[in-house]
Amino acid sequence: MQQITHDVLIFGTGLAGLRAAVEICIRTEGNASLGIISKVQVMRSHSVCAEGGTAAVMRPEEGDSFELHSWDTVKGSDFLADQDVVDRFVRTSPDEICLLEHRGVPWSRREDGRIMQRPFGGHSFPRACMAADKTGFFEMQALYDTLLKYPNFTRYDECFVTSLLIEDGRFAGLTLIDAPTGEFYVLRGKTLLIASGGLGNLYGFTTYSQTVTGDGQAVAYRAGLAVEDPEFLQFHPTGLVPSGILMTEGCRGEGGYLRNNQGERFMEKYAPKMMELAPRDIVSRSEMTEILEGRGFPGPDGLDYLHLDLTHLGAERINKRLPLIREVCIKFLGIDPITTPIPIRPVAHYSMGGIEADIDGRTKVENIWAAGEVACHSMHGANRLGCNSTAECLVWGGIAGGEIAKYLTENPALSAMPEGQAQEEEDRIFKGLLQRSGPESPARIRRELRVLMDKHAGVYRTGESMQEGLDKIAELKQRFGNIAIQDKSRVYNTNLIQALETQNMLDLAEVLLFAGLAREESRGAHARTDLPKRDDEKFLVHSMVYYLGGKPRLGYKPVTITNWKPVERKY
Ligand code: FUM
Repeated sequence: MQQITHDVLIFGTGLAGLRAAVEICIRTEGNASLGIISKVQVMRSHSVCAEGGTAAVMRPEEGDSFELHSWDTVKGSDFLADQDVVDRFVRTSPDEICLLEHRGVPWSRREDGRIMQRPFGGHSFPRACMAADKTGFFEMQALYDTLLKYPNFTRYDECFVTSLLIEDGRFAGLTLIDAPTGEFYVLRGKTLLIASGGLGNLYGFTTYSQTVTGDGQAVAYRAGLAVEDPEFLQFHPTGLVPSGILMTEGCRGEGGYLRNNQGERFMEKYAPKMMELAPRDIVSRSEMTEILEGRGFPGPDGLDYLHLDLTHLGAERINKRLPLIREVCIKFLGIDPITTPIPIRPVAHYSMGGIEADIDGRTKVENIWAAGEVACHSMHGANRLGCNSTAECLVWGGIAGGEIAKYLTENPALSAMPEGQAQEEEDRIFKGLLQRSGPESPARIRRELRVLMDKHAGVYRTGESMQEGLDKIAELKQRFGNIAIQDKSRVYNTNLIQALETQNMLDLAEVLLFAGLAREESRGAHARTDLPKRDDEKFLVHSMVYYLGGKPRLGYKPVTITNWKPVERKY
């Protein structure tokens, strides 16, 4: 089997992966060899879809401060964020904005020429640095352009990672399928950064691209790394009905209203001070309450909705600040938000949990780091604030890249390969999975899984419903043993790759519900109608899920509290 070796492997080429690659190239002056792996192509990574902005304290002289950004983030997290991590984050993100400024991001500007910042949910100061409503796209482009200055990286596009090879507690390499050729081979590396993004396609109604299936998290979990806080899945308040496409929080940051079928700005009842700009967990719950109590509009396939009303903002503001939103509404629904309210409802958007990583981005395996949405640095706790995610990708992409560069100066050796494991993996896939010809269809199983997650792991949950969800997942896993893969060839076998993705999704859905069932309280995005109170006595802890004997096992670890003890959240 072919083996190719690099100093550093970067699994995932979104904002975190590219930011890390740039940092490593800068620090090593281009002398480290990098292999950057994507299941798509670099500029198709889901980060290009990030719309509204990137949080940073840029105007202390106008009243913002690191302390205020920290407090907003910790309170927004329902006090589950590690406060030392938050402190490092807020102090680092302004440097990331400056770096991107120097690398050419065309930020929207104020009259005085300074970078424009708009209000975002849960932030008590306008903090979202923005490039209209295409911020992620421009940030990605600036980073990729920067990377092109360095010769020493190899792109592995359209390559699907199937497993991590760990020997004696150290990373040795990973196995992958090169989709265009169907070749299966091993990439070896002295170090690995996992930056493969989220898992939002576990849900049917989601803002994520179809490609976001949690692959990095799943292979890390099965290789023995813990998944932290998986039960905290964020629902964004404004997913376009019926497609789920993100209607950026920037719409409300620019002054948009949420209205029910009576025309009322219902957030008055739930968050009288911050209204539409309360944190996402609160706005999403408020919307669901309105819908469940009959104040929504009837929508297709049970997707009842509310209105995001921008009609009072005027054409000029919408065209300048929200051009993508307008274009999407016109193209997908034939409505113009300048004159017509937009149909929206809560939509699966972000995973607060992920692979356990410390404040330097390092995992429990010495030469593996994780950054971006796939990781859990304990930064967002139970609920992330909007525009803290692109910022987190940049901050921990930079930090992890710096740490990896430092590690390389110690001249680490390549770890030994675990005997026979890569061959076993190839046989599992090509002699096992690909040859199956049972009665079950992987596409049907994936569809049923996504419907199940919408129903049993939504904005509101109960113990009974989560248990039912877990039982159904167990059934789906059993049925997966009887699938058929229609396409038996190796070249561009999307049937096979989608089956592997579905396997990853089944494992992660189980992890999410497993940790959710055990968390007998409501906190942040985990809202149980059977246990509506937060329980700091028992559950001011991070959930840790380990893969042992083919099953999830649960542990907990304490939250780091430095400045702020938990209090009731009011907005
Ligand atoms: O609404 C948005 O533009 C999303 C931003 C985020 O998730 O941080």
